[in-house]
Amino acid sequence: MALQPSNMGTTLDLQFWPDPIIAIETSCDETSIAVLHGRNILSNVVASQIEMHLKWGGVVPEAAARQHAESIVPVYLEALEKAGNPDLTAVCVTNRPGLVGALSVGVSAAKSIAFQKKIPLLGVHHLEGHLMSPLGDPEAKMIFPHIALIVSGGHTEIVRVNAPGDYTILGETRDDAAGEAFDKGARLLGLGYPGGFAIQEQAKLGDPKCYKLPRAIPKDPFNFSFSGLKTAMLRLVESEASAISIPDAAASLQAAIVDVLVAKTINACEESDIAAVTLVGGVSANVELRTRLNAECTRRGISLLVPPLSLCTDNAAMIGLAGSLRLQAGERATWTLDVVPNADLPKRPLQ
Ligand code: KG4
Ligand code: ZN
Repeated sequence: MALQPSNMGTTLDLQFWPDPIIAIETSCDETSIAVLHGRNILSNVVASQIEMHLKWGGVVPEAAARQHAESIVPVYLEALEKAGNPDLTAVCVTNRPGLVGALSVGVSAAKSIAFQKKIPLLGVHHLEGHLMSPLGDPEAKMIFPHIALIVSGGHTEIVRVNAPGDYTILGETRDDAAGEAFDKGARLLGLGYPGGFAIQEQAKLGDPKCYKLPRAIPKDPFNFSFSGLKTAMLRLVESEASAISIPDAAASLQAAIVDVLVAKTINACEESDIAAVTLVGGVSANVELRTRLNAECTRRGISLLVPPLSLCTDNAAMIGLAGSLRLQAGERATWTLDVVPNADLPKRPLQ
């Protein structure tokens, strides 16, 4: 058995850009703009496209880009008004990874604002935004190094976070992301899109042991695979037909996903001898996952930090938090800032 992690880590004196900044996030299906002052979030407006994508059962990239183009100015005006129209001193924008058309709308808007106001521009990695999202709670103390579990609709990764900017990916999914497993399961059960929240609510009424679903544990210690679970759900829905209990199926699916996520995260702490964890990304809103991970961490003396619920799913405030640290470290983009559909997390600590 692995030893209880002993490296309790340390909090760093994080330096945020001291004046008001604006942050833009349009990498997938939320148009979001936030205004921050230091670490304080003055506004964080999120216009979701869920209604539109609901009828297709998933995100249609072309439609997402057009919807961002339609929403971006109203969202900008609302974010500024809610923040009290402060004098903006810098612009941060998600430029990677994500849907190219969707990202382009945010990057073009960011360039226009930076050009018009003659203020610095910075591109931010979407996952770095998720990694820094717990800092949106003004009381939160982030410990370094820590193990981060990033679980969203597009990503499932275990990352060793040595310091802001200094990330080592320990494991990732080989196929579907955890959020996709929730979403595809929900679609099979007729619960709509995106399905994570619907599965969570149905699961409250069901028995997680009712249906036997696989827990894929790939040989490499920190990697994930959820495609077998998707196939097993399809077989279950076909074989049970109208006799299926939706709450029991939802509870069984949720338990299968949560079991694997919790086991691998604890394993990563034990193997790396790190006693601090963060849980981030859209799926971190899942109550069962938060509760189970918290219980397992507490049993082992591992500290757990999770973002406030409003900062779990995609939002611009988290992009502002990550960008603010980089701006203060002196980082700037040029006017040729481009969008990158697939991009690794940065690997070097901020200077
Ligand atoms: O981080 P996010 O907003 O977008 C990506 O970057 O992908 O994550 C969206 C994902 C969706 O798959 C959604 O079903 C899932 O987060 N999600 C949840 C819950 N709330 C959102 N999954 C499980 N339980 C929830 N309560
Ligand atoms: Zn995301």
